[in-house]
Amino acid sequence: MSPLLEVEGLHKSFPTARNIFGRVTERTVVTKDVSFTVATGETLGIVGESGAGKSTVGRQVLRLIEPDSGVVRFDGKNVRDLGGKDLLAFRRRAQMIFQDPFSSLDPHMTIRNAVGEPLTIHYGIKGDERDRRVVDILERVGMRADQLDKYPREFSGGQLQRIAIARALTLDPDFIVCDEPVAALDVSIQAQVLNLLLDLQKERGLAYIFISHDLSLVRFLAHRVVVMYRGEVVETGTAEELFERPQHPYTKSLVEAVPDPRTRRRTTSTARIDTARNPAEAR
Ligand SMILES: Nc1ncnc2c1ncn2[C@@H]1O[C@H](COP(=O)(O)OP(=O)(O)OP(=O)(O)O)[C@@H](O)[C@H]1O
Ligand SMILES: [Mg+2]
Repeated sequence: MSPLLEVEGLHKSFPTARNIFGRVTERTVVTKDVSFTVATGETLGIVGESGAGKSTVGRQVLRLIEPDSGVVRFDGKNVRDLGGKDLLAFRRRAQMIFQDPFSSLDPHMTIRNAVGEPLTIHYGIKGDERDRRVVDILERVGMRADQLDKYPREFSGGQLQRIAIARALTLDPDFIVCDEPVAALDVSIQAQVLNLLLDLQKERGLAYIFISHDLSLVRFLAHRVVVMYRGEVVETGTAEELFERPQHPYTKSLVEAVPDPRTRRRTTSTARIDTARNPAEAR
C-alpha cells in the first residue's frame, strides 16, 4: 500500500537581496532535497532548531506555497497538478493547525462562524444543520454549546486552540499538519491539547505531521521522526532509534538536551500524557 503522503526532493529558496532595479541578486535555500513519507494514521514528527525550514516544509506539503522543485503526492496524486474538484477535495482532506490560535482565528468571527464556515464553503451547509454539526464538533473538543456566539478574544489560549482544532476537523480530514500546536500554550494546558490530538487520531485514523523543536514531545507523540538542520533532513527514524542511536551531531545535541534520556516513548495506542504534569516531565 502506498503511503498517504509522499514528499520527494522538496527544494525551496526565497529571494533575500535585490538590486536597485528590483532584480533578485541573492536567494537563500530554505529547504533542500527534503523527502519523507507519512502513512494513514501515522504521526511523523519534524524537529529542528528555529529557522531549520520546518514550517516551510509544512506549507509546501499543503500547497500553501509552491516548491521550486520536488514532488508532494497525496493519496498517490501530485498535489501540484490538482485543480477544480480534486483541489477542493485536497483542501478538505488536509488541514493545518498553527502555533498561535489568536492569529489563526479571525477576531471578528464568532465561534459559530469560525467553525461552521468550512461547511458552508465546501458543502453549502447553513442554518440549523450547520449549527448542529458545529455543536457536535465543539463538544468533541471539550467546548460547550453555549459559547457559540462568543468571539476569540473571550477565550483563553488553550480554549482557542481547541476551537482551531474543531475548525480543522469540521470537514473530516485524513491528515493535519500541526505546526508547534502547543508551543504558545501554558504548560498546564499543553498536555490536554496533546491528549486531544492523540484521542482524535485514534478515533478517526488521522495522520499528522507534528512540527516541534521539543524532541521530548515529539518522542512521545510521533511514530517516526525527521530531523531537519539548515533546510536538510539529516536523519530519519523511529523516535526510539533516534533517541537510542542518534547518528548526526545535531540529533545528538538534541537528545542530550532532553533532561531524561529514558523518556517514555510512544509504543501503544493507549499512550497518554499525564495532564497533571508538564508533558515534558511526564514520563
Ligand atoms: N516568505 C519568506 N521569505 C523569505 N524568507 C523566508 C520566508 N519564509 C521563511 N523564510 C526563511 O526561511 C527559513 C526557514 O523558516 P521556517 O519558518 O520554515 O523555519 P522553522 O523551522 O519553522 O523555524 P521556527 O522553529 O522558528 O518556526 C528562515 O530563515 C526564514 O526566515
Ligand atoms: Mg516554524
